Amino acid sequence: MKINFIDLQAQYQAYKDEIDREVGEVMASAQFIGGPKLQKLEKELAEYTGAKHAVGCSSGTDALLLSLMALDIKAGDEVITTPFTFIATAEVIAFLGAKPVFVDIDESTYNIDPSLIEDAVTERTKAIIPVSLYGQCADMDAINAVAQKHGLPVIEDACQSFGAEYKNRKSCHLSTIGCTSFFPSKPLGAYGDGGAVFTDDDALAEKIRMLLNHGQNERYRHKLIGINGRLDAIQAAVLGVKLRHFDDEVAARQRIGGAYSEKLASANVVTPQIEADRTSVFAQYSIRVKHRESLAASLNGRGIPTAVHYPMPLHLQEAFAPLGYRKGDFPVSEQISSEIMSLPMSPYLSEEQQNYIVGALKELA
Ligand SMILES: Cc1ncc(COP(=O)(O)O)c(C=O)c1O
Repeated sequence: MKINFIDLQAQYQAYKDEIDREVGEVMASAQFIGGPKLQKLEKELAEYTGAKHAVGCSSGTDALLLSLMALDIKAGDEVITTPFTFIATAEVIAFLGAKPVFVDIDESTYNIDPSLIEDAVTERTKAIIPVSLYGQCADMDAINAVAQKHGLPVIEDACQSFGAEYKNRKSCHLSTIGCTSFFPSKPLGAYGDGGAVFTDDDALAEKIRMLLNHGQNERYRHKLIGINGRLDAIQAAVLGVKLRHFDDEVAARQRIGGAYSEKLASANVVTPQIEADRTSVFAQYSIRVKHRESLAASLNGRGIPTAVHYPMPLHLQEAFAPLGYRKGDFPVSEQISSEIMSLPMSPYLSEEQQNYIVGALKELA
């Protein structure tokens, strides 16, 4: 059996008529930047999350960058985050000349350990960026409590967790700002790059809108130094269609994620732990295994692709060598990154395919 890691073709076939029609409307209107599809999408995204403002932008990376720019993060500032994430989370901090300050993760959720944050706060700390990894929210109340004590804004990197719930509230609407990604393989994926910023703060939302459009709120009157960080109308059209079906897709992801965990309970692997007060959208279904490389090769030989999110924590990346971290600084992140392995996951994974994957793991792991 040959299995896709993520089945984006099956998803397109499922919504083909709607997507072709909506994208066709953008083509016919020739309004490729801004316009009614983007406005409608932003309204629907805000409604979905409960946030007062949703601002579409060019990627999850730019959503994070724009948020830091809106908070005036600059050279000399420090921003606390996790080393066990995709590079973009910390890259944008360094890109602005500020310093990423890493804090280790919780061993069961793989998200930043709130009990370690306070020790990392200095007078230069200007923000905290927890990441809601693999689709499960970080412990946002605990993080917000530390932040509040020190007067710090919290940006949730919700690039993998759009649609997830934390204490019955939606990811992206759990702190000062939430940022998500619409990269094609994300739970809500566009047909190219895209992202969004969420906030209840009117002034921040207005500033982010200006920053993503070269710092202007009136044509050729530039109040701020900004970027070209816009979400285009074709992506907005695709996302608008997918958002209509998103609740069903999240339900399917949760059913498939739950079934993986049940079926793998007797296998020689560690399945993800989802806390009782949260749901996961399983952007990745990631297990921990021994002898990862040989296992991945054996699975691949049976037509089962796997991936590693992420094989090297950020404090050990060459790009962050100037920060001066060493192996051993964040032992939990280092341990998990040596064992973690993601399995094929999409709302379109059939029971037969899943049973085949589970059978292979029981035999080989
Ligand atoms: C945790 C995390 N942060 C940031 C990003 C960056 O998003 P994008 O690829 O849309 O720039 C991603 C996705 O790739 C991610 O998984």
